[in-house]
Amino acid sequence: MHNLEYSERLHKKPVNVVVVGSINMDLSAFVKDFPKKNQTIAAKSSEISAGGKGLNQAVAAARAGANVTFIGCVGDDSAGIAALQVLKDNDVDTHYIKVDKQTHTGTANIIIADDGANMIAVSAGANYSLTRHDIARASSVLQSADVLLCQLECPLDAVEQALKIAKAASVITIMNPAPAVDEATKLLPYADFVTPNETEALSLTHIDPTLPENRPLTTRRLMSEGAKNAVVTLGSAGAYVTAQDGRQFMLSAFTVDVVNTTGAGDTFNGAFACAIARNYALTDATLYATAASGISVSDKTAFDSAPTHEITVDFIARCTYLDTLLKHDESSITR
Ligand code: RIB
Repeated sequence: MHNLEYSERLHKKPVNVVVVGSINMDLSAFVKDFPKKNQTIAAKSSEISAGGKGLNQAVAAARAGANVTFIGCVGDDSAGIAALQVLKDNDVDTHYIKVDKQTHTGTANIIIADDGANMIAVSAGANYSLTRHDIARASSVLQSADVLLCQLECPLDAVEQALKIAKAASVITIMNPAPAVDEATKLLPYADFVTPNETEALSLTHIDPTLPENRPLTTRRLMSEGAKNAVVTLGSAGAYVTAQDGRQFMLSAFTVDVVNTTGAGDTFNGAFACAIARNYALTDATLYATAASGISVSDKTAFDSAPTHEITVDFIARCTYLDTLLKHDESSITR
């Protein structure tokens, strides 16, 4: 496939994406190496920013060009105000974000090592105040979406309610099982696409997708639990996909200088949601999301590193090794 053909296929049709998810204040410390247990180390630098998987994904989808509406909850504090402002600045509709006066906005303590790897501890705060009632209040916006995108940093019953409303209205659903909480598998029957990373996929299936020979089995296990299509993101290795019609492919990642992998999966999911909403072919949607995610890891912050549609398309157009990235996998369905 010639790069120019990609540029033409990756159109910017206006689409509606609804994100049900988390909003956090991220406190990130940049260190040479992770501290050991009971050890205090000096960070090289630190940064306070808006984050949360939901917020990061919403910003990524909006920058990819989708009209995004967010359903979530913040505390009545400065972190909540700052996060709402970030969403508004990125043209995300915040009308369905509740403010809970009883608790704090979610927080995430993040440590990022020199090799770009991260460790994250999240205190859910107001994210856990999102209820089925809040979701029901947003029914009409869910029903008129092209795609619903959700993760698991909010109560599972609220996420389940959103998925049910969307499915009943034939809206395409993408469930990013991050983090891979207990009972996440019960949501798989409502997911048109499930998009775990390698550790989440391992936790959900007990199969290790970092081993190439396990990848078909991992995606098929997710599909046997109810997901229609399975997309396992594999960090610097790329993404492995099994589609509803049985097609399977591996898309290798782009070669980039890694600065911070925090939120790379979120950028993938936000861009992927926009691409699926635009009805891109599944290989094109995966390529588009992989490119957006690749661009994001070469930047320092999580949400602010998500690229615009134009940047992603230009990045793909200028790639000199595009033809080497996609490999169709002919392994048997029963494997
Ligand atoms: O995926 C990255 C995100 O996970 C961070 O922004 C942090 O808030 C946690 O939710």
